[in-house]
Amino acid sequence: MKILVTGGCGFIGSNFIRILLTETDNQVVNLDALTYAGNLENLRDLEGHPGYSFVRGRIEDMALVSSVMKEVDSVVHFAAESHVDRSIQQASPFITTNVMGTQVLLDAFRNAGCQGTFVHVSTDEVYGSLGPNDPAFKEDFPLKPNSPYSASKASSDLLCRAAFKTFNLPVVITRCSNNYGPYQFPEKLIPLMVINSLEGRSLPVYGDGMNVRDWIYVEDHCRGCLAALEKGRPGAIYNFGGQCEKTNIQVIKSILEILDLPEDRIEFVKDRPGHDRRYAMNSELAVKELGWKPRMTFETGLEKTVKWYLANRPWWERILSGQYMEYYEKQYGNKG
Ligand code: NAD
Ligand code: TYD
Repeated sequence: MKILVTGGCGFIGSNFIRILLTETDNQVVNLDALTYAGNLENLRDLEGHPGYSFVRGRIEDMALVSSVMKEVDSVVHFAAESHVDRSIQQASPFITTNVMGTQVLLDAFRNAGCQGTFVHVSTDEVYGSLGPNDPAFKEDFPLKPNSPYSASKASSDLLCRAAFKTFNLPVVITRCSNNYGPYQFPEKLIPLMVINSLEGRSLPVYGDGMNVRDWIYVEDHCRGCLAALEKGRPGAIYNFGGQCEKTNIQVIKSILEILDLPEDRIEFVKDRPGHDRRYAMNSELAVKELGWKPRMTFETGLEKTVKWYLANRPWWERILSGQYMEYYEKQYGNKG
């Protein structure tokens, strides 16, 4: 199968492409705009792989997307603006990419008559926030997004549902909890705390640090997406969670323990507006229908992740300095 992966130069997309190309016989076309979050260096080890090609472009570009879609059987759609804090600063890029871009992909998939599956990668954040004793999110829970990011993702989920209902498109929606692992952009909690610790900077904790996230190792999420592609029921939604609820302060203390550093750099700062208190996922449907379950424990996964950031200092230093942006021009020339 030839698979269009959107957003393959980001954190989860690049981990997904690595699994596809090293563990399956599928071919991959990676369509990515290379926004600030897209980094060609994430896939450096796979450049020149015979089953891989890269197209730089935006998912809202119907002409480009239509021409790429003619070549492929299936789509796994990761491309998104993904950071809640940025969506609070400026929501419009989230609407353009996450909402409009998803609709362009759905239309192009239908127009091209693709025979495979359209996997739409979404998030637990569409369900909103849980109280301390609430049961974990199930797929039929109401959508109650609280940030511009999660509202844009919920919108894209609804467009996917409509494409299935109206046009019978074989769309499968996946919703995953918070990912961590190699190649995560250092604006998100875990890489930010690791790098700030290594650089001797303070560790900014929003509010009281008692917000809970259900952490999942990125490869477990990617294997869920692959299972959804191979075995997902058209029209279905599958939750993927790590069965690993932790408060932010617990996560930060675990990182400091691995690095053998004191806790004195933890700094409690002003809370994020609309900050969701707790996420937790019920993944029973994915276990039952896809035969999927998360494999990595948080202790092992976090240690692996911290060690990856220690061993790959040049990767994140080039992000902090902005040099990673120059890599595209070196590889492909300045064609945009
Ligand atoms: P990321 O921000 O690391 O990567 C996003 C990628 O999409 C980048 O390579 C970027 O260049 C590309 N992109 C952005 N706008 C584009 C556009 N208009 N056209 C083409 N490419 C564009 O994100 P991530 O953390 O890898 O998340 C991937 C997907 O998984 C997103 O849809 C996100 O909502 C979802 N998700 C993420 C998490 C998480 O914890 N990170 C959890 C659940 C779901
Ligand atoms: P984040 O990685 O932005 O993911 P999300 O908001 O999608 O869950 O944040 C994870 C949690 O960490 C969230 O509760 C906000 C908190 N957080 C901090 O306390 N400090 C920070 O500097 C960041 C980036 C996040």
